Amino acid sequence: HSADAHRTDLMTITRFVLNEQSKHPESRGDFTILLNNIVLGCKFVCSAVNKAGLAKLIGLAGETNVQGEEQKKLDVLSNEVFVKALVSSGRTCILVSEEDEEATFVEPSLRGRYIVVFDPLDGSSNIDCGVSIGTIFGIYMVKDSHEPTLDDVLQPGKSMLAAGYCMYGSSCTLVLSTGSGVNGFTLDPSLGEFILTHPDIKIPKKGKIYSVNEGNAKNWDGPTTNYVEKCKFPKDGSSAKSLRYIGSMVADVHRTLLYGGIFLYPADKKSPNGKLRVLYEVFPMSFLMEQAGGQAFTGKQRALDLVPTKIHERSPIFLGSYDDVEEIKSFYAADE
Ligand code: AHG
Ligand code: MN
Ligand code: MN
Ligand code: MN
Repeated sequence: HSADAHRTDLMTITRFVLNEQSKHPESRGDFTILLNNIVLGCKFVCSAVNKAGLAKLIGLAGETNVQGEEQKKLDVLSNEVFVKALVSSGRTCILVSEEDEEATFVEPSLRGRYIVVFDPLDGSSNIDCGVSIGTIFGIYMVKDSHEPTLDDVLQPGKSMLAAGYCMYGSSCTLVLSTGSGVNGFTLDPSLGEFILTHPDIKIPKKGKIYSVNEGNAKNWDGPTTNYVEKCKFPKDGSSAKSLRYIGSMVADVHRTLLYGGIFLYPADKKSPNGKLRVLYEVFPMSFLMEQAGGQAFTGKQRALDLVPTKIHERSPIFLGSYDDVEEIKSFYAADE
């Protein structure tokens, strides 16, 4: 291919997914329709985020969510857009959102075979200061679409068919895996299309960055404390790691995926299950990390093997470069 061929051979996310789908002859195009509706939601949120300051969309919505967090106007707006886009797609039967206390069971006339778990706006605390935020989603296939129940949602992350995130930063980047690798697409605002810009993303086997909120250090357990100490004061003569922590999981994970390293949200005395939510933060990011050649660990087990019992359940998470996660696993193994 010459460079121009790439310029004129526009690989849009829709075309990419259709190519993927042709590998599954049994599929009827439903996944592509579902994905197109998720992409529509991301385009809407991207434009709302970009003009939030102007459109008086920053600030609080004056409500608190089931997490006990004060909802931002953009949290609520993004959630409504995604719920409506997913329900109207006619391809979903259950939705779980960070911003809704209960799961949404789609009415029979609009019911499809997919379950979508999502964090409509991740990193909300960063909205008002203009730091990158994002949307995170995971997709399961329902077992029995006649009478879908919560059991269909409380599945281990390894049962997900697909997962991804969209980051609203200097550019709008959508990173997606449908189970055969990870690909990144960048929104071309002039076309309104996501174009393939990061084909077949593989995370470096080992990185030089650790990413954790050091402000919680006094509450960490032994293995996390010892591991972070080793990052800062390596005994084997290797150089210390750099600390990079943005406070938006999507931004911290995107940097980890591209540059390598490890992202940690450990358990601590105040929150024994850590802070991040299993269904729509831990599972999708762990799915992507494994698909990119990295791994994800809860401190006790492979993150994708976890079986949630509640839809807003939390878990500690250590994810990123294969070798870096191996190392913290050895600290936890030694602690048993
Ligand atoms: P959300 O904005 O969807 O509630 O998620 C915020 C999460 C995640 O984005 C980030 O990694 C983490 O909160 C940061 O937590 P701390 O501020 O406690 O470090
Ligand atoms: Mn929140
Ligand atoms: Mn979040
Ligand atoms: Mn959120």
